[in-house]
Amino acid sequence: MARLEFAITCALTLLALSSVASAAIVEHTFQVKNLTVSKLCHRQVITAVNGSLPGPTIRVKEGDTLHVHVVNESPYNVTIHWHGVFQLMSGWADGPSYMTQCPIRPGSSYTYRFTITKQEGTLWWHAHVSWLRATVYGALVIRPRSGHKYPFPKPHREVPILLDARSPSLE
Ligand SMILES: *[C@@H]1O[C@H](CO)[C@@H](O)[C@H](O)[C@H]1NC(C)=O
Ligand SMILES: *[C@@H]1O[C@H](CO)[C@@H](O)[C@H](O)[C@H]1NC(C)=O
Ligand SMILES: *[C@@H]1O[C@H](CO)[C@@H](O)[C@H](O)[C@H]1NC(C)=O
Repeated sequence: MARLEFAITCALTLLALSSVASAAIVEHTFQVKNLTVSKLCHRQVITAVNGSLPGPTIRVKEGDTLHVHVVNESPYNVTIHWHGVFQLMSGWADGPSYMTQCPIRPGSSYTYRFTITKQEGTLWWHAHVSWLRATVYGALVIRPRSGHKYPFPKPHREVPILLDARSPSLE
């Protein structure tokens, strides 16, 4: 009997390990800083992530844990909100300033850590402080974990589309 229990425990441990093995820790660094852009002959200094607008696209698989180190080199307070992510047991990583965290001050950094569970598709991340969300944003693409299917017909092709409303009055 004890031997059977031991065998069952071993099998369960192996099962647990194999499901952990299919999930990865995906690590990224976001450098939030000034970016000079020209639009219709007009030069403007905006705040952006890693010098690009939109910011970097993050790609993960369902079950992965995301670690995003946000380094604030901008002159403004900032937080990042992971729009639409369920944040199961990680509500503190959700990002709204003064709700789940104090803003990340200029010259400071903060690491968001959360696991993406039970959702697939394309979401987005954006600043959640004052008007910075107008330029601090990017796509978050969640694919099914290995061996699993999309909960909708598999896309033929993917083209993330991000609309930009660069006007503080839209706040
Ligand atoms: C953003 O820039 C930093 C610093 O150059 C770099 O280490 C990091 O890999 C970049 N992150 C992304 C998501 O591209
Ligand atoms: C970033 O832009 C702001 C607003 O234009 C400006 O006050 C600040 O000096 C700039 N910072 C750096 C490091 O260039
Ligand atoms: C920036 O955030 C800090 C808390 O992290 C807060 O004390 C400070 O008042 C904020 N500054 C501005 C200009 O909102």
